Amino acid sequence: MQLNQVGACDGHVRPATRSDAPGIVWVSNSSILPGEDVGFGESMDSPFRDTSALLSAWRDPNLVQGEEVLVAEMDGRIVGCVTIEDRGRELELVNIDVPLELQGRGIGTMLVRSVEQRARAAEKQAVTLGTSRNAEGVAWKSLPWWQHLGYRVTHEEENPWTRSIGPGVREIRMRKDLPPE
Ligand SMILES: CC(C)(COP(=O)(O)OP(=O)(O)OC[C@H]1O[C@@H](n2cnc3c(N)ncnc32)[C@H](O)[C@@H]1OP(=O)(O)O)[C@@H](O)C(=O)NCCC(=O)NCCS
Repeated sequence: MQLNQVGACDGHVRPATRSDAPGIVWVSNSSILPGEDVGFGESMDSPFRDTSALLSAWRDPNLVQGEEVLVAEMDGRIVGCVTIEDRGRELELVNIDVPLELQGRGIGTMLVRSVEQRARAAEKQAVTLGTSRNAEGVAWKSLPWWQHLGYRVTHEEENPWTRSIGPGVREIRMRKDLPPE
C-alpha cells in the first residue's frame, strides 16, 4: 500500500468484472470481525460472501441483484468494494467494504468520492445510503464516518429490511446533496 505526497491512497476505482469475484468476496468477508454485525444486519445470505454464489448472481457487465459493483484497486489487488443503485434523482450507495487490515488508509473515502463523481456525472441530486441502529439503540459504528464525509441523517425508519433483522431495529437514512458544479 502506498500513500502519495498528500497522504491519500494511490489507487483507483473502476467497474468490477467477473474475474474480480474472488477479490470482492475476500473484501466482503474481511471488513468486520466475525459476529460484529449481529443485531445490525448480518448478511449471511449475501452473494458477496461466496465466489460461486457471486458468479451465479453476476449479470454483465457489473450488476449483482440490480446493484452496480465497483472496486478499488491498488497494485493490481482488489482492496475495496462498493455497490450502487440508481434511484431516479438519487444514487443509493448500498454497501461498502474495506478489509479490516487496510482500513484507515483512505480507501473508503476514495470509493465514496468516486460514487459522488459518478452521481454528479449522471446529474443526480444526491447520494443516499442507510445504516442501522440496533434494538438497544446503538448506531452501527460507521455513522460518524459518514458524517465526517458530509452525509447528514435525514430520518430513521423501520422497513422490511430492519424487520428482517429483528424488532426494534431501525434504518438510519443519510444523504449528501450534490449541488451542480
Ligand atoms: C466504513 C469503511 C468502508 C471505511 O473505510 P476506510 O478505508 O477505513 O475509511 P478511510 O480510511 O477512507 O477513512 C479515513 C477518514 O475517515 C476519518 N475517520 C475514520 N474513522 C472515523 C470515525 N469513526 N469518525 C469520524 N471520522 C473517521 C479519518 O479521520 C479520515 O479522515 P481524513 O481523510 O479527513 O483524514 C470501513 O471501515 C469498513 O469497511 N467498515 C466495515 C463495513 C461497514 O461498516 N460499511 C458501511 C456500512 S453502512
